[in-house]
Amino acid sequence: MAVVSRCLAILSLSLGALAQSLGNFNSSTSSSVPEQPWQTWGPYRPNLYFGVRPTVPETLLMGLMWANGDDRKTMLKSLRDTCEQNDGMQGYGWTFYDTRAGGSQAIHDTQLQLELRTDFLKSEDGNSWAVRITGTPKSGAADVKTSLILHTAVEKVDSNGPKSLVCDNRSKDGTQVEAACHGDMPALGKFEFQVLGDTQNKPIHDTVVKSIEVTEDRIWQAKSVLVDLFRDTAGNGISLNDAPGQGNMHFVQLAFQGPFQVTFTYQATGTPLLEANAVDSGISSLQSSFATRVDGVFPRASPFQQEKYTHFTQEILSNLLGGLGFFHGDTKVDDSHAPEYEETDANFWVKAAAARSRASITTTPPLTLLSHTPSRPFFPRGFLWDEGFHLLPVIEWDLDLAVSVLHSWLSLMDDDGWIGREQILGPEARSRVPPEFQVQYPHYANPPTLSLLVPIIIAKLTGTSPYAGHPSVYLSSPDRASAMLRTIYPLLARHYAWFRRTQAGNFTEIYPRPASAIPGTGFRWRGRTPQHTLTSGLDDYPRADPPHPGELHIDALAWVGASAAALEQVASYLGETDDAAKYASHVADVKHNLDALHWDSTRKTYCDATVDSSGRNEYVLVCREGYLSLFPLLLGLMDATHPNLDAVLDLLGDPDRLWSEHGLRSLSKSDEGYAKDEDYWRGAVWMNLNVLAVLRLRDVGLSADGPAAVRNRAAGLAAQLRQRLVDTVYGSWEATGFFWEQYSDVTGEGRRSRAFTGWTATVVLLMGLEFPGQVVGSEPVESSGSGRGALLVLAGVVGVPAVAVMLISGVRRRAMVAVAGVVNLLLGWRTSWKERGGRGYEQVIDLDERER
Ligand SMILES: *[C@@H]1O[C@H](CO)[C@@H](O)[C@H](O)[C@H]1NC(C)=O
Ligand SMILES: *[C@@H]1O[C@H](CO)[C@@H](O)[C@H](O)[C@H]1NC(C)=O
Ligand SMILES: *[C@@H]1O[C@H](CO)[C@@H](O)[C@H](O)[C@H]1NC(C)=O
Repeated sequence: MAVVSRCLAILSLSLGALAQSLGNFNSSTSSSVPEQPWQTWGPYRPNLYFGVRPTVPETLLMGLMWANGDDRKTMLKSLRDTCEQNDGMQGYGWTFYDTRAGGSQAIHDTQLQLELRTDFLKSEDGNSWAVRITGTPKSGAADVKTSLILHTAVEKVDSNGPKSLVCDNRSKDGTQVEAACHGDMPALGKFEFQVLGDTQNKPIHDTVVKSIEVTEDRIWQAKSVLVDLFRDTAGNGISLNDAPGQGNMHFVQLAFQGPFQVTFTYQATGTPLLEANAVDSGISSLQSSFATRVDGVFPRASPFQQEKYTHFTQEILSNLLGGLGFFHGDTKVDDSHAPEYEETDANFWVKAAAARSRASITTTPPLTLLSHTPSRPFFPRGFLWDEGFHLLPVIEWDLDLAVSVLHSWLSLMDDDGWIGREQILGPEARSRVPPEFQVQYPHYANPPTLSLLVPIIIAKLTGTSPYAGHPSVYLSSPDRASAMLRTIYPLLARHYAWFRRTQAGNFTEIYPRPASAIPGTGFRWRGRTPQHTLTSGLDDYPRADPPHPGELHIDALAWVGASAAALEQVASYLGETDDAAKYASHVADVKHNLDALHWDSTRKTYCDATVDSSGRNEYVLVCREGYLSLFPLLLGLMDATHPNLDAVLDLLGDPDRLWSEHGLRSLSKSDEGYAKDEDYWRGAVWMNLNVLAVLRLRDVGLSADGPAAVRNRAAGLAAQLRQRLVDTVYGSWEATGFFWEQYSDVTGEGRRSRAFTGWTATVVLLMGLEFPGQVVGSEPVESSGSGRGALLVLAGVVGVPAVAVMLISGVRRRAMVAVAGVVNLLLGWRTSWKERGGRGYEQVIDLDERER
């Protein structure tokens, strides 16, 4: 009896999650944000080189592994499964990919002397898909042996209704079908798989089908299960023992000498099969329609019309789209709401750390998320701060997809309005994050980037911004558009109210505030420590030192302003005039206080603020010039008439401060913290905020009022900056085959994580921009004849990293960090976990260890 009721409880929970994933979590909202059939299947396991699953939790997982087939030892050592930094690949990624239809991924497996292609195609009705895997030996390696393992697993086979999956070995039945499986599951119904060979293939052994039962904790760990199976299989052979049948995990193993082609097809029973040769024709017609579509959605203006930018545009977009993942599972939350988390005392970070260490951690019920990911090898999960940027190009490409993802994120919100900034859902996602970093805190905010999207969506709906992407149900039906906004609006409003409440600055009499400031409109990121403000997204950007509970952070205020402006727009669109007036007044207050609280009229720059704790109890500004100083401009809160705009443009265009050959530096070159310590947000060029800078500068340039001199200057800066950003990302991609997390302001080289096609992909928004009266490619801003030329020459002679070392020489630790960069590039990766708050944690070389 107990067992039965437990099963029922699980069943209803799972069905709830399922309904949520389908956008039907409430019958009253079921038609507002529908999940569309074409979304059902996709390569939504972006952490794998190739992994497919449906957007239906607790059903099927599928993936591909491959390895060298010389002998068992080599095979197990070279098994490819999850995307890694150190597999000796010369790049991998989608050469074209459209979330609605499929695409083609190229994997340059230099170490295994193999070019691998995965051509994935799906039907629009969500009933079938196929992947064709093509292996081509590198030249000089014509006889290379490759083992190929397709695997599929059934999640939670014992819960949520009857689930079955049975596989047979058909390698001797005289057709090209090597193996076939059939199954039945709630939400998917009856379905069939086939594995098809090719007559040109030269198999090394017969096709093997191995069907087994594994425990639930291993269901996503096909690689380690396979390794264990080999450990239990006698001999040195590269194939498993054939044992087809029923199971919750199945391996289909094939091995070839030389080139090969294998096709894997899925279809709902009774629906038309995607035939193996239909994949060929489907893929080639997709390739050409994709190219046309990209040209239509992201047209390129001069000087980006050259052919070389065609592939660049297609690849960066495809890899952003190909990073879409579907995640389902529980997550760890500290629900203690300890009073220390208010962070009101002088040494609040010490007390907060103590409170965290004694808090008990809650495991939530399973949550569901459809999200793009910053980087498949490093950050294969959802990040709130990133997703708003990811969706900027996605909106242009496929409005309905962008709305689904936006809605999926907003559905994670709790009753208070909180959304965890890093979504580590389920054991597979957790396996990539050390335990001490897995917990999410309901008092931690993150830049509310999702609010950036709403004005753009509304501009599409009202036709003020052109839309050339996939057909949209919202554009074709005003009713559905309103229903969708009516679903999203209260969620955004709740999140906004939560942000204001939990990140409020302290406006009691205890702390001095400028007389002209409006009390209450000033904010402070919680979660600060002396070195980091991870919650702001700008991790190690220098702020008040030591931290003070009376601080006010300019970026937090600007994010509130941008969110209020977005809410004002939705409220107006929906005819909620009282709300619209309320948000408009919030925007006005924010604009007022950006100047009243954060403008330093002597230095002529925007700054954080703190309270002098040396006894005088004064309001003081903390001016560390860099991205923080640009936030009022970046978030659209300064128009062309603003009296401080000229000074902001001075800072932005000054080569000794933010303006570099490769984009805007995160921290001024003249700041004492420039390129120091972790050197993460301390000088490097980040594309997300640089792209915003181009767009906002251009807005100023195009505006109807304001002094002509300022407008022209803004337009000129926008055009030059755009050129530099595209050149930087393009140049590094051409040289390395990868897109990168950030770029050196000195050399333009990609830095930190590679295969980073999250927000770096926002550069696709730039190539089509036209600039008013602009002579593109002119060089009016940069002062020439500085030491820069000499450095570049030197870099050519002794190598860029050596120059980097010289530039920051003196302090041994700095030099070690720079050397680490060289070691990364030249010798591969010695890795360790390192905290990386804005976007979680990364594996980086940590030579600091040696100094401790
Ligand atoms: C579901 O709809 C009802 C109104 O029909 C509403 O009161 C409730 O808040 C909704 N629940 C969710 C989760 O949106
Ligand atoms: C299944 O695989 C085994 C081992 O590779 C092979 O010998 C056997 O003939 C296959 N069975 C069928 C029915 O094809
Ligand atoms: C402001 O700071 C005082 C002194 O630490 C504290 O008691 C109070 O709760 C704070 N108020 C707010 C709104 O943070």
